[in-house]
Amino acid sequence: MRTPPRRTRTAAYATAAALLLGLAVAPAARADAERPQAVTLDDLARQSGRYFGSAVDNPELDDTPYANLLGTEFGSTTPGNSMKWDATEPRRGVFNFTGGDEIVNYAQANGLSVRGHTLLWHSQLPGWLTSRTWTADELRSILKNHITQVVTHYKGKVFAWDVANEIMNEDGTYRQSIFYKTLGPGYVADALRWARAADPNVKLYLNDYNVEATGAKSDAYYRLVKQLKAAGVPIDGFGMQAHLALQYGFPNQMGQNIQRFADLGLDVALTELDIRMPLPSDTAKLARQAEFYGRVTDACLAVRRCVGITLWGYSDRHSWIPPVFPGEGAALPWNGNLRRKPAYDAIAKSLAAAARETKG
Ligand code: G3I
Repeated sequence: MRTPPRRTRTAAYATAAALLLGLAVAPAARADAERPQAVTLDDLARQSGRYFGSAVDNPELDDTPYANLLGTEFGSTTPGNSMKWDATEPRRGVFNFTGGDEIVNYAQANGLSVRGHTLLWHSQLPGWLTSRTWTADELRSILKNHITQVVTHYKGKVFAWDVANEIMNEDGTYRQSIFYKTLGPGYVADALRWARAADPNVKLYLNDYNVEATGAKSDAYYRLVKQLKAAGVPIDGFGMQAHLALQYGFPNQMGQNIQRFADLGLDVALTELDIRMPLPSDTAKLARQAEFYGRVTDACLAVRRCVGITLWGYSDRHSWIPPVFPGEGAALPWNGNLRRKPAYDAIAKSLAAAARETKG
């Protein structure tokens, strides 16, 4: 996986972060090797060979305290919107990589790797694509060109692509998107092959929500991945978005579900983790949220090929949830003032335990 090595932090930064974490700070005279080095979630994740990331939307980079914390605490980022089709190909054949490049540049300057999101999705498509019908040949050519141009542009700059996002319905049937309706189910294999042709090294993922538990939807992906593998179609990973909610309970058999995809020879990643709750938050809800975050992290860390976890934004200051689910929110491990919630400690504890096991 092309996750660039994390930059080495200065002792001054490590000390400041250790103070924030409440860890014992090594006395100045103590040998470097004895200093507490693993002080961020990404540092802890790296000790067991994973990354810990957070998505970011371009306007959030102007929020300096937010951007600074993103750049220090996390090892990977995913653009929340700026690599989607409406942003990258706003007119047919006219590509605009400004927003995605801004995030790649920010990531490179701060030593973060980038997950590409997303090449093909039924949502956030440009008007020119959705406002008329296309023949299968036309749409195939449009899709191939889009994937080829975008993957080529970000070759060597993103380590993974969510090639196809949210292609299944809850009952495990294909979503009736413009792609499915015009091209039939073969469009998924085509998209993966075109992405591979444009970048032989990038990891190619299918990605969806409500697939953390066993059930009709994750079963459909399991069958599809098996078919794709049997047909020699390039696929490297399965992304479980993990948009969870306290009121719906913890996903049934999440650990076993991650394991069965890994057993197909795939990497698995938790790609958009957040755990919302009915507002207002209170101590009991925050404690339950922390328990869920710890269990999700444990579920990933129990599977060797669960390669990383990405939060869909890390703070309640910037979250997609309140406008989409009125009356719900408080979903992230940092609150709106960028203060850590109990969820942070639960994640750190889980990551530290896995790090100790790796060492032992
Ligand atoms: O860019 C326009 C801006 O010009 C306009 O003034 C403003 C007014 O509402 O809207 C802006 O577009 C918004 C866009 O985010 C960029 O901020 C859209 O309204 C808004 O709907 C869009 O929401 C995004 C959502 O995907 C769209 O479905 C969220 O930010 C983004 O976090 C969310 O991400 C998705 C993943 O891609 C896939 N999985 C689910 C996840 C959460 O919905």
